[in-house]
Amino acid sequence: MTQIHRFDAVVVGAGGAGLWAALELVRNQTNVAVLTKLYPTRSHTGAAQGGIGAALGNLEEDHWQWHMFDTVKGGDYLVDQDAAEILAREAIDTVYELEHMGLPFNRTPDGKIDQRRFGGHTHHEGQGPVRRSCYAADRTGHMILQTLYQQCIKHEARFFNEYQVLDLIIENGVCSGVVTVDIVSGEIHIFHAKATVLAAGGSGRMFKVTSNAHAYTGDVFAMLYRKGYPLEDMEFFQFHPTGIYKMGILMSEAARGEGGVLVNSKGERFMQRYAPTMMDLAPRDMISRYMQMEINEGRGIDGKDYLYLDIRPETINQYKSAPSGKQVTEHELREKLPDIIEMMELYLGVDPMKQLVPTQPTAHYTMGGIPTDVNGRVVIDEKNTILPGLYAAGECATVSVHGANRLGTNSLVDILVFGRRSGRAAAEDVRKMDFAPLSEHPDAIVTTQIDRLFASTGKESATELRTKMQETMTSKCGVFRRADTLEQAGKTIAELKECYQNISIADHTKRFNTELLEALELGYLLDCAEATVASAAARTESRGAHAREDFPKRDDANWLKHTLVYKKDSKVQFNYKPVVITRYQPKERKY
Ligand code: FUM
Repeated sequence: MTQIHRFDAVVVGAGGAGLWAALELVRNQTNVAVLTKLYPTRSHTGAAQGGIGAALGNLEEDHWQWHMFDTVKGGDYLVDQDAAEILAREAIDTVYELEHMGLPFNRTPDGKIDQRRFGGHTHHEGQGPVRRSCYAADRTGHMILQTLYQQCIKHEARFFNEYQVLDLIIENGVCSGVVTVDIVSGEIHIFHAKATVLAAGGSGRMFKVTSNAHAYTGDVFAMLYRKGYPLEDMEFFQFHPTGIYKMGILMSEAARGEGGVLVNSKGERFMQRYAPTMMDLAPRDMISRYMQMEINEGRGIDGKDYLYLDIRPETINQYKSAPSGKQVTEHELREKLPDIIEMMELYLGVDPMKQLVPTQPTAHYTMGGIPTDVNGRVVIDEKNTILPGLYAAGECATVSVHGANRLGTNSLVDILVFGRRSGRAAAEDVRKMDFAPLSEHPDAIVTTQIDRLFASTGKESATELRTKMQETMTSKCGVFRRADTLEQAGKTIAELKECYQNISIADHTKRFNTELLEALELGYLLDCAEATVASAAARTESRGAHAREDFPKRDDANWLKHTLVYKKDSKVQFNYKPVVITRYQPKERKY
C-alpha cells in the first residue's frame, strides 16, 4: 500500500549539495525531508579527496578573478561566466562558513587554512601554479559530509535513509514531489512537496573503469530525459588522469599538487613536453589525453595501457616540484596524503614512498546534466524557461560552471556554492507556493515498471547488459572518440536498450531487493549512455574533455554553444543555447 508524506521541500541525495540545500531549508523554517538511497555520510562526496578551490590567498597572492579565469579557461570557454563568477566569489565565503561549522582543515604554522596546488589553478591568469585548494589531508569530501550532516541533525532536518527515488512527479508542467521505494521494506512512498531539490550525483557507472561509487547510476537524469526534458552538455565526461590501474579508484590530484609526477616507460616526465608551464598540474582533460597518446604511441609501461605516478620523496626533490620549494619528506607526504597512500599499499601492494604506482585515466565526473539557472532552478529549454517546483545542484546539475572540462576542486566548490543557493531559492519559493494537487496514481509508472520486472520471464541478464554497456562506453566513447566509434556505440546502446525490455530477475521478494533496484538503475544508465553518445556524435569539434580524433580542433564559429539533448517521439533530438560570456573572450588554451 503506497504511503503519502507531505513536506514543503524534499531533497534527493545527501552528498554535499543535498546536505547544504537541506541545511538552508531548515534554517529558513522549511519543513524538509532528505531522501537518500545510501546512508548520508556514505555519499560519493566522501570520495572527493584533494580539496576545495577558494582564493583565500593564505600562502601566496590570489584573487577570485584568477579563480574565475582559470575556471573559464579550464572549461575550454564553454563555461557560463556569470555562474563562474558566482562560483569563484562565493567559494571563499563557503569555506569560511564550513570552518566555522567545525570542518577540520589542515593548517599553516600560523593557524590559517592551509592550501595546496591543483590542476589548472594558476596565479596571474596562467603564469604558474597557485596554492588555492583548501584541504583536510586527502579526506576533504569526507569531512564536508561529516560537518554538514552534523549541522542538519542539529537543525532537525528529517532524513529518510535508504529511500531510493524512482520517479519525479511532474504534472501540468509543475514538479510536486517524488516516488520512492523504502529499500528495507520494499514499500512505495510518495513524497508530495512544493519544492524538490535534486542533488543525486552523476552517471559514471556507465563506464567500465571509473572512480565513481556504485550509486552513481544517473537516476534523476534519466527520469527527466524520459519525460522529454533536456539534459545539457552530456558529451563532456571527465576522465581523471590518476585512477588505480584497472580498478579506477581515485588517487587524488593532490598527489601531483604535493609534487608527484607522471612518467612513461622511458622514465620520462612526459608532461614537460606537452605543458611546459603547468606540467603535471595542467587541466585533467589535457593530461588524460596526453597519457592516452603516450600509451597509444607505445610508451605505456611494458607496452600496456598504463603509466606511472611517482610520488617518491627523492623524485619530488630531484624535480624540486614540492609547492613549498623546499625538500619534502616521507613523513610530510604521509601526513598530507594518508588515504591514497594506504589505498596504493592495500590495492596494489606498492609502497609509493619507494615504488612507482600504475595509473590510467578513469571516468570521473559528469560535467553535463540537468540545466539550471544560478539559483538551482531547473530550466527546460534554450530560453531558460523554469520548471516550477524543481531545483538541482551539484554533479547532477549543469549551471554551467565546468563547461567542457571541470578543474579539480571545483566539484566541491560547486556543491557548496550551488547547494547553498538552491536551498535558499527553494526556501524562498515555498513561502509563496501552494502544494500542487496530485493526480490519482502518481506512482503508476513506477509500479508498472516493478510489476513488469517481477512478472518477466525474459532471458536477458541485467549483469551482462551492464558489462557490455560499460565496455562499450569505455572503448568507444572514452578519452578519444570518432564518428565511427560513436556510431558503433550508439548502435550497441540501442541494442542493449532493446534487450533490456527482456530482462528478468530471480529475486521476487520485497525487502532489500537489490537485484530489482540494480535492474532499474541499469535502465537509467542506458538512457544516460544514449544521451551521452548521441550528444558526442553531434558535436563535430574537439573541446575540453570531448576529444574527437576526426575533428581535432575547437570550432568556436559553430560550436561555442551548449547542447540540449532530449527525447521526443522516441527520437533523440537537439537544441542548442548560447554560452554566457562576460569577462573572458575565448582564446587558445596553453599551459
Ligand atoms: O583529485 C581529486 O582529489 C579529485 C578532486 C575533484 O574531482 O575535484
